[in-house]
This record gives sequence, structure tokens and C-alpha cells, in this order.
Amino acid sequence: MARTDNRSGPTRRMVLEGGVATGVLLATGIPVDAEPADSVTAAASPTPVPTMPMSLRINAKDLAVELDLRTTLLDALRNHLGLTGSKKGCDHGQCGACTVLVEGRRINSCLTLAAMHEGDEITTVEGLAEGDRLHPVQAAFVARDGFQCGYCTPGQICSAVGMLGEARAGWPSHASADVAAASVALSDAEIRERMSGNICRCAAYPNIVAAIRDAAEEA
Ligand code: FES
Ligand code: FES
Repeated sequence: MARTDNRSGPTRRMVLEGGVATGVLLATGIPVDAEPADSVTAAASPTPVPTMPMSLRINAKDLAVELDLRTTLLDALRNHLGLTGSKKGCDHGQCGACTVLVEGRRINSCLTLAAMHEGDEITTVEGLAEGDRLHPVQAAFVARDGFQCGYCTPGQICSAVGMLGEARAGWPSHASADVAAASVALSDAEIRERMSGNICRCAAYPNIVAAIRDAAEEA
């Protein structure tokens, strides 16, 4: 018996025609009635990123730089100012390789924007030595073999310099038995706790602790 189909709705012809169009869309990602290829390319080309001139005071020098306002301090140092001593281990505030000093306090430079630090005194590992004379913490790291590959070392050293200042100021840590004590005795446990934000995959930790103990005694 011949089949009849009186249902209203899309006809076989409509479905087939629509199917061709859908196939073109799926295969190319471009609707069949889309603009010609050259205008698609023009629309996709990135708009120029607005930048702003700023002045950063790094290692006692005023440095002028023009940056996208979203540039982190770490990327400004490494990619725009040629100060590659500060390292990028994670870019997420988890490894400490990017540690620098801002107004004498240690921070993760990957977690802060360069534009936030105009007028601040920024010190990177390149600014610690005085001429050929190493900073005492740098010298102690060398004397105690406080590094192996050296990638975490700039962050470790800047962090140690900041940490020694915090201990001198009497700031307690999670390892301090008496958080109200006026001064901090830098035991190995205190040093380990205070340096726990700086990861070393070469596991130079015992030598790092020894180096910082030496530097603390010398200070
Ligand atoms: S790169 Fe900044 S904490 Fe790892
Ligand atoms: S010395 Fe290699 S990661 Fe610390």
C-alpha cells in the first residue's frame, strides 16, 4: 500500500536543504551565509593593547617603562627591564621563585602588578651585592652550598633577606613558642617555617637553613 504523509512540518526537501547548510557549518565552523574569508580575518585581528608609561624604582635606579596595566611585576622585571634574576616557577604564588623585596618586605612578584609599585623601593637579587662584594646572605649560600641548579636561589636569597628583617623586628611565626616575645631566636625550626614559601626541587634545604643560620649570626 502506498504511504501517504499528511503531517505538517518540515518536508524531506527542507530537511535535505537544511542538512547541506548544517554540514557546511559543522565542517567549516563558518555559517554558509557568513562574511567572506578576508573580512572574517580582519574582524579576528587583535586590537592593540593600551599601554601606560610608568616609572619603577628598582635597585636604587629609576627605570622608565611603558606597560600594559595588567603586567605583573615579575613580567615587567624579566620581559621588559632585562632583570631576569627573579624567576618564574609557577606564576601562581606557590613556589617563591619570584620573591623580591618591596620596601624591604618580601613579596611574590608574580602576584602583584607593576603599576601598583610606582614610587616603591624594589630590590631584586641583582641589587643585593655591593659592587663585587656579595650580600652576606649570598656569600653564606655560596659557602654552604645552599643551591644546586640555582633556579630557586634568587627567590630563596631575597626571601631570606626579608625574613631576617622580620625576625629582627620580632615578628613571630607559626613555629614561635611565644608569639608575644620581643625578639626571635632563629632556631632551625624557625628558619624552616619562615622559609617554607620557597620551594627547592633540588632539596638543598639543609644547606639553605645552614646558610641562613650563618647569615643571621653574622648580622
Ligand atoms: S613564580 Fe611566583 S610564586 Fe611561583
Ligand atoms: S637549587 Fe634547584 S630548585 Fe633549588
